[in-house]
Amino acid sequence: MNIRTYNSLPANTRERYTQVTFDTTRDHSLFERTESTTSLSLGIKRLNPLDRRRTMQLFRAIVREAKKVQVRHIAVQMTELESIPGYGKDAEDRYRLFAENIHMAGYEFTALKTSPKKGSYNGIEEIALVGALSAKERKDFAAGETVAHEVNACRDLANMPGGDMTPTLLANEVRKRCKGTGITVRVLDKKAMEKLKMGAVLGVAKGAREAPKFIIAEYWGTSRAKVPVVLVGKGVTFDTGGLSLKPADYMLDMHLDMSGGSAVIHSLIAVARLKLKVNAVVLIPAVENSISGESYRPGDVLRSMSGKTIDILNTDAEGRVIMADALTYARRYKPVLTIDVATLTGASLVALGTKASAVLSTDNDLAQRLVRLGEVSGDHCWQLPLWEEYKEMVKGRFGDIANVPTKSGRYGGAIAGGMFLGEFAEGLTWAHIDMAPRMVSDDSDLLAPGAAGASVRLLVRLLEDQANT
Ligand code: BES
Ligand code: ZN
Ligand code: ZN
Repeated sequence: MNIRTYNSLPANTRERYTQVTFDTTRDHSLFERTESTTSLSLGIKRLNPLDRRRTMQLFRAIVREAKKVQVRHIAVQMTELESIPGYGKDAEDRYRLFAENIHMAGYEFTALKTSPKKGSYNGIEEIALVGALSAKERKDFAAGETVAHEVNACRDLANMPGGDMTPTLLANEVRKRCKGTGITVRVLDKKAMEKLKMGAVLGVAKGAREAPKFIIAEYWGTSRAKVPVVLVGKGVTFDTGGLSLKPADYMLDMHLDMSGGSAVIHSLIAVARLKLKVNAVVLIPAVENSISGESYRPGDVLRSMSGKTIDILNTDAEGRVIMADALTYARRYKPVLTIDVATLTGASLVALGTKASAVLSTDNDLAQRLVRLGEVSGDHCWQLPLWEEYKEMVKGRFGDIANVPTKSGRYGGAIAGGMFLGEFAEGLTWAHIDMAPRMVSDDSDLLAPGAAGASVRLLVRLLEDQANT
């Protein structure tokens, strides 16, 4: 799907486009066809008056409704948009939001579908945005296209089935995707990880035939004297739960358990394509959490790279275990900020539903900065606490730290995950984003089923913010 901008539609092409208009008095849409023209009147009563959030919904609704009536070319007049009450309110960068949300709504995961029959409906081909964009609006629009491209690439990567996206294949894919961007990629294999004593990653990986990989991607966009932001992404290419095996229903989407890894690498690519003057490093511990006679067991005690030992009480809490070594590795960079992104807990879904990622940090300002940028980007976040009173949740039995609480049962599971990670982030300015709630889209997102591409827009905004400080 392409978005093209025109000052006015070329005269001889006008009939090709379905003209989109808006009506704030009803919620259903109307499609009309005359002999030579088609028009689509979007019912947007529920979005009236617009604000920033609703503006994003509006743009997605345009695509969703146009898909429903199976049109291929649609035209949106800027004057029509401007006539909607509240248009542009809290959304000065609305043409960035336009590009981001139109492209996100246009995306479908088709990589594994046999190509459709000739003549069948194949989605929208072109959206014409008609009107004069100012220089700033053109710049915003272009940035939005770049970011959207990476959000959708992130979704494609995350959506690949576990059998087609093993740690090795993920590492190769990261290499391929970073080519030509100025990002350098290094991949540590099992041997290198043994040398570094990454006992936590290696422990989780034991049950899988597939060897683990530790992926390192660096973008140096400004003076090397400036310490980088480090982004750590969970890269569990499939999560069976290990010997603490998941029930079938819970295992269904677990090829998406590398969504954090997918988000951080595509954020980095977006940042490189935007040529931001910032330094950033991505770390992805990539493993399959599988079952076999070699699997790590409940009761095993793993020695992590930090030297701290981890009591494995549940092999399904594997994300925090591999992230522990990645956070330890992050220290090498003396990062100005360390952000980890992971589909870490089902408990974060219990806490927040499907509309926001959980953000947890020992640095309240950093957490609130992420919440604010969530609002700006559309990747909404909400803070959960990491008070020291929660510390007993991660007290080890025979090892130093337990990977699941020994006592408090199932209460506060997202916090327990954050407290665990905090043990490995001591001294770092660090925040943890539990993006499990946003791993897949829900109906009201107006996005295709599967990966929602969460956190890419958020992390790009953070790095833009960082480049300006
Ligand atoms: N990958 C899962 C968390 C998850 C669940 C992500 C649902 C997305 C949707 C994680 O590895 C896991 O299994 N966590 C356990 C932790 C528990 C054993 C303490 C969970 O949430 O049940
Ligand atoms: Zn798990
Ligand atoms: Zn997992």
